[in-house]
Amino acid sequence: MADTLTITDNRTGKQYEVPITDGTIKAMDLRKIKASEEDFGLMTYDPAFTNTASCRSAITYIDGDKGELEYRGYPIEQLAEKSTYLEVAYLLMFGELPTPTQLHDWEQGIVKHTLLHENIKHLMRGFRYDAHPMGVFLSTVGALSTFYPDAKKVHDPEMRLKHIKRLIAKTPTIAAYAYRHTTGKFYVYPDNNLSFAGNFLNMLFKMTEAKFEVNPVLERALDILFILHADHEQNCGTNAMRAIGSSEVDPYSALAGASAALYGPLHGGANEAVLTMLREIGSKANVPAFIEKVKKGEGRLMGFGHRVYKSYDPRARIIKKAAYDVFEVTGTNPLLDLALELERIALEDEYFVKRKLYPNVDFYSGLIYQALGFAPEMFTVLFAIPRTAGWVAQWDELHRDADQKIARPRQIYTGYRTRDYIPMEKRGKE
Ligand code: ACO
Repeated sequence: MADTLTITDNRTGKQYEVPITDGTIKAMDLRKIKASEEDFGLMTYDPAFTNTASCRSAITYIDGDKGELEYRGYPIEQLAEKSTYLEVAYLLMFGELPTPTQLHDWEQGIVKHTLLHENIKHLMRGFRYDAHPMGVFLSTVGALSTFYPDAKKVHDPEMRLKHIKRLIAKTPTIAAYAYRHTTGKFYVYPDNNLSFAGNFLNMLFKMTEAKFEVNPVLERALDILFILHADHEQNCGTNAMRAIGSSEVDPYSALAGASAALYGPLHGGANEAVLTMLREIGSKANVPAFIEKVKKGEGRLMGFGHRVYKSYDPRARIIKKAAYDVFEVTGTNPLLDLALELERIALEDEYFVKRKLYPNVDFYSGLIYQALGFAPEMFTVLFAIPRTAGWVAQWDELHRDADQKIARPRQIYTGYRTRDYIPMEKRGKE
C-alpha cells in the first residue's frame, strides 16, 4: 500500500488522503482541502523555505545531522583529496567521473573560453577605483549576456552547454580583473598552459617578471577550496539561480542574480565578515567578552551556524587542515590562534551547543585566503568562481525537469482590502 497522510479538517469534518512520496507531500495536494466551495484551498506558509523542497535534484546530497556532503554520491573528503576542480565541475554537470578523454575534452572546451571580449575590459575600467570586487564581478557577469545573445536559447541543450563552459572559464578572468582593478594594476590575460587554479593565480599576481612561478602547494590549496565550494544543493544563491532561471532568462543574467545572493553577509559574504570580526576581537583575552555579547543577541558569531548542518560542516574540517599546508609556505596567520580559541570556547558553551552551532565553511576559509595574499573584499569572489560549476549544473538540471515552471510563490495577504482613493486635500484630516 502506498504511504499516505490522513488529514481531518475540523472545520468541515471531512477527511483527506494525501500521498507521501520521498518523505514529502505535494503542497498542491492540500489545495483540495477547503472550508467551503468558495474557499481557495489550504496553502503552506514557509517564509524561508525551511521545510519545503523546491525541486528534485540528483546533484548534491547533504546529511546535516551527520555532517556529510556528497557530490553525485562521492564524499567531499575523497574529492578534496583526489580530484581537481574541473573534474568536479564535470561530475556535477554530467553525473559521472570523466574518462581521461572526456576530461581532456572538457578541460580543452573550457580553457578556450577563458579570454574576455576587450569591451568587457573597458566596461570594468569604468568602475570606481574602490569598487567592491564582488559588485564588479556580479555586474560584469550580467553584462556578458549582452555579448552572447544566443544564450537566450535555453531550451537547446547544446547551446546551454556552450554557455556553461563559457561561464566556468570566464568567471576566474572576471574575478582577477576585478581584483587588479581595485589594486590599480594592469589586467593579465589568461595563460592556458597553466592549470585552472594556476592560471587564476597568474592573472592575479603576475607583475613584471617574464614568467610568474605558481607555487604548487598554494595552487593545490586553491583547487581544494574550489572543490569544496563547487555546490551545496539548494542554498540561497542556488535557489536564486533556479528561481531566476525558471523565467527562461539567459544563464549570465541568472548567474548575476545568484552572485548577488551570495554577496550577502549571511551567505558567501560571511568569510569576509569573519575576518572583520576577528580583527575587531583583536586578542584572545577579548574572546570571552565577545562570546557574551553574541549570547545577549548583540551580533552573531560569523562563520558559525548553518541552515542545514547541525554538526561540524565537513568542508570546515578540510579547510582547517588545508590551512596548515598553506601556512607552511606563507607563514602562519596571526588570526588563526584567535579563531581556534573562539572555536574552542564556542564549542564548549551551552548557548552554541544547545543550538547546534558549529563552524561552517566560512570560518577558516578567510584565513587561508588572507595567507594567499587576498584582501577580505575578494573572499566572496573566491567563493563565486567555483560555485559557478554548481549553479550551472543546477540550472541545466532545472531545464531538464518537466516538473519545473516559473518560480512564483504565494503570499498570505495582510493588508487592506478595496478602499476608495482619497483626494490629496482630504488626507490627514481624520
Ligand atoms: N551566532 C550566534 N547565534 C546564532 C548564530 C551565530 N552565528 N547562528 C544562529 N544563531 C542562533 C539564532 O540567534 C537562533 O537563536 P534563538 O533560537 O535563540 O533565536 C538560533 O541560533 C537559530 O538560528 P537561525 O537564525 O534561526 O538559523 P538559520 O538557519 O535561519 O540561519 C545562518 C543560518 C544564516 C547561517 C546563521 O547561522 C548565521 O547567521 N550564521 C552566521 C553567518 C554565517 O556564518 N553565514 C555563512 C553560512 S555558510 C554559507 O552560506 C556558505
